[in-house]
Formats: sequence, C-alpha cells, structure tokens
Amino acid sequence: MTITRRHLIRKLGTIGGTGAAFGAMSALGFFPRNAAAFAALPADAGRGVRVAVLGAGIAGLTAAYELERAGFAITVLEARDRLGGRSWTVKNGSRIEMQGEDTQVCSFAENVYFNAGPARIPSHHEALLGYCRKLGVALEVEVNSSRSAFLMGDDGKTLQMRAAVNDTRGHVSELLAKALNQGALDTALSAEDKEKLLPFLKGYGDLDENFTYGGSERSGYATAPGAFLTKGTAKPPVPLAELLANQRISSALFDETITMQATMFQPVGGMQQIAEGFGRAIAAPIHRNAEVREIRTRGDSVTIAWRNTATRQMNTLEADYVLCTVPLTVLAKIDADFSSPVKRAIAGVPYASSNKVAFESPRFWEKQQIYGGISFVGGETSLVWYPSTGLNTDTPAMLLACYVSGRDAVTFAKRPLAEQIAMARASVERLHPGHGADLAKPMVVNWSKVPYNMGAWSSWNADTAVADFNLLNQPDGRVYFTGAHLSQMPAWQEGAVLAAQRTVGMLADRVRETRLVRAG
Ligand code: FAD
Ligand code: ALA
Repeated sequence: MTITRRHLIRKLGTIGGTGAAFGAMSALGFFPRNAAAFAALPADAGRGVRVAVLGAGIAGLTAAYELERAGFAITVLEARDRLGGRSWTVKNGSRIEMQGEDTQVCSFAENVYFNAGPARIPSHHEALLGYCRKLGVALEVEVNSSRSAFLMGDDGKTLQMRAAVNDTRGHVSELLAKALNQGALDTALSAEDKEKLLPFLKGYGDLDENFTYGGSERSGYATAPGAFLTKGTAKPPVPLAELLANQRISSALFDETITMQATMFQPVGGMQQIAEGFGRAIAAPIHRNAEVREIRTRGDSVTIAWRNTATRQMNTLEADYVLCTVPLTVLAKIDADFSSPVKRAIAGVPYASSNKVAFESPRFWEKQQIYGGISFVGGETSLVWYPSTGLNTDTPAMLLACYVSGRDAVTFAKRPLAEQIAMARASVERLHPGHGADLAKPMVVNWSKVPYNMGAWSSWNADTAVADFNLLNQPDGRVYFTGAHLSQMPAWQEGAVLAAQRTVGMLADRVRETRLVRAG
C-alpha cells in the first residue's frame, strides 16, 4: 500500500499526538511554519478557540486585532490602566510612577505632550504604518533632523549642523580633488572615472573652479539676502581641524541611517493614539488593571491568575492558548510552569536603560530657526530634541532636554530626579544660553524603573544568544511568547507588530493542523 502524506500524518497524530503530526506536517512543507509575511487569515480560522493575550502594548494589540478578525475568542489582560505599554503619551493629568521615586503628575498645557517611549516612525516601517491607515490614526511629519540644530563639543563650543555637514564635505572634496590632480589615485581609478569624479566633487563639495573649498552658502549665511541689491554672503568655512575636534561630529551623519531619516511620522496627538486606535477596533474584552500573577498549563488548557490592581480582587481566566507579550524582565518574575530551558532563557535576556527628561517651554529655539530636529550635546543627557508640532506659533511646547540610552543612561538613572532635571536644564542652558530658566514642569522617565517594563528594550545580541532567541520564538506548550524583544527590531514598534503577526500566523497554523489531524 502506498503511504500518502495525509496517511502518514494521521498515523503520527495517533501515535505521537498533535505535536508529532504538527512537526511532520511542517517538515513535509504542508504549512508555512514561519509565516514571515503576514497574510490575512480566514475569518473562521480560530472558531471556538480561546486565546488569552497578555499585555496590551503594540504587540498584544496587533495580535488581539488579528486573532479576533480570524474568529478566535480572545481576552486581553493588561496590567496598566491604559493601552499601549511603552507606547505612552504623557500629557496633562498623566502620572509617572517609577520604582523608588515619588509619583510625578503632569500639568502640561493643553496640546502639549511628551512621548515617553516611541516618538518617531520611519517610512520603511510599513506594517505599523499599515495599521495606522487601517485604524484611521492621523499622522503628521516628525522633523527628525534640522540643519539649524547643533553639535555641542565637550568644551561647550557649538557647530551648526549645516556647517558640520557641508564644511566637512567641502574640505574632504577639496582633499580628494587634490589627490586626484596630483595623480595619487591613478592606480585606483581609470582615466575616465577620474575625469568624471572631478566635476562630481566640485558639485558635491561646492568647490570653486580651482577645486578648492572657500566656504558655501550651504553652511549658512553670514549675511542674508534681501531686497534690491542685498546679496547673501556665505559664512566663512569652519576649519577641518575644528570640525574634527568636535566630539559629536559623527552625529552630523545620524540622519543617513534609515531608521533616523530626516522626516518621519508621528501620530497627531501622541504615539499612544495607535494603541487607542487598536482599542477602538477590538470588540473583545480588554481588561485593564489586570496584572497577570500566575500561568499554569493543565491538560489542554492554560489558566491565568490575575489581580485587579484597582479592586485587589484575584481572578482566573482559562484559555486554550496564551499569547504572552509581557516584557521578559517582568515575565521572569511571574509564577509560571514553563519548561526549565524556557525559564532560564527568559531570565537571561538583558534589557537596555533609557531615560527621557521633558519640559514645557516657550519656543526660544525657533528664534534660532530650529523647527524640529535634534541637537547632540553628549554626556549623560546626550541630546536636545525639538518638537515638530505647533511650529511658528506662540503656543507653549514640549522640549525633550535629555534622551539617553545605554551605559550613560544607567549612571543617569541612579541620580536623584532633581539632579536629573538640573542636568537636563543645564545642558539646555549651555546650548541655548539664557534659556535654562525658561524650562518648566519637568517630567522624567527612567525606563529601568517603570513598572511592567523594567527596561527600555531587550539588548540581547541575537547572534550570540541564538539558542535562547530561537527557543523563545517557539511556543512552550500552549504558551506563545511575542513582542518587540522577539524580533530583529527590539527598539521599534515595527518589531512588535511583525513579531505579533508571525506568532498569530504560527498559532493559526497549529489550530488548522490540529483540526486536520482530528478530522483525519
Ligand atoms: P510593551 O509596549 O512593553 O507591551 C507589553 C505590555 O505588557 C505592556 O502594556 C505592559 O503593561 C504589559 N504587562 C507587563 N506586565 C504585565 C502583567 N504582569 N500582566 C499584564 N500585563 C502586563 N519604537 C518606535 O517605533 N519608534 C521610536 O521612536 C521608539 N523609541 C523608543 C524610545 C524609548 C525610550 C523606548 C523605551 C522605546 C522606544 N521604541 C520606539 C520601542 C517601542 O516602544 C517598543 O518596541 C514597542 O512599543 C514594544 O511593544 P511590545 O508590545 O512588544 O511591548
Ligand atoms: N527606536 C528608538 C528611537 O527612535 C531607539 O529613539
């Protein structure tokens, strides 16, 4: 008798259970095991299947939205009293609670807000942008880079971005043209390429007819052009040595990185609008103040014990599957009967620190022609990020006076909040003398102290922690882990979306396979 693939799978299902059949089906190429590109699932894919989604950040909400569309019976448990997780917009009335710190209550003016977590969406984050479109989340431009902003050296001297970019380019172009003209690159370049490169360098560096760089209006005006015969004149070029001496010079190129592109998106009214959009689109219950305390698998179902943090009441939820987006720093402390390797992997993933300090302020920077963008200042406060909304008005604005991640962020977060605020103010005073005192209503977020996150983003090196990364990217029995930490973009919402979509695809595959095996 010929054994057909279906026959073999049915046999395996009888002998080894669904798991064996499932594995065999995948090995036989029956199903797309890793649904990398997410395709909409049939509307009845999850009929009769209960899924508990733990966490209502971008990953949990994406998963809940897609599972519900595919007919799954979902329940979302979210520990906070709001949706969005790290995607958090602090505005008037918001409370910032951090372990070991006094609660801060925001009293910003109307329309002034602070994206404590994500603040920008690059154009290639198409999955997230796709949901914004679907959910009707209005976007506006986030001006990520302004050539009017500054690079401040350790000595407090500032270089304007446009001078840093264009004077460096002018000097380098002159040097390269000189080398070409002296024949120094004759072995590296064909005569034809050399002939083409020289005029290119002239345009690239704004060189004169002798291929020397004497400054450029690209770097800013010494005197601005005006009426009748008033011509503009270029600022004299900053000498190359001075450019190179500025410790922040490499940040002149930051917007060349695709994720730091010069113009990005931000939702009108704050990043949390995306989560609110998901919230409106999901019909199933999303329990807020629902802190997951325990996860236990019993036979064919999983029981979640959760505490209502408002009423202090304990509750249980039973589901066929769990999709868990709880950050690993937090999950490691939840009582769960995961397998030992999974528990060990969860506990072993380090998370980065990141801090932001925001103030309400009059728009003094706009008087220096800075409309959005970032000045880099180094040190423990790292940068000053100017707002992209309400431009050229007299309305108050949010100025981000510190955004630092990594090692400096660990040191900074150890300081008392008052000192963090003073340092952020001092950095603005140094950069924009006389304006430190304009800053009011400080709000500080140290992500390493924020409950239900306890860290900014996973910082595991997926290359060195391949085994653990792969392990957590597979289900542990009936529990699926997902979230930005299980993507190649742990510090981006796009990572959360793509990870969630992949996990939903895996779960739907499994449900389909189980049904096929049962139908035999
Ligand atoms: P989370 O948003 O952390 O969601 C997890 C959810 O689980 C939370 O809602 C949490 O409350 C909940 N939870 C935790 N414990 C429990 C429990 N016991 N019971 C129930 N629920 C629980 N991304 C961008 O796209 N652009 C940016 O500009 C950007 N900048 C960033 C800047 C900072 C400072 C930070 C911290 C992040 C930034 N990111 C940015 C990254 C982005 O915020 C994350 O990648 C994304 O929001 C992660 O989504 P998530 O759903 O995986 O996790
Ligand atoms: N994705 C984070 C940011 O844009 C790191 O700042």
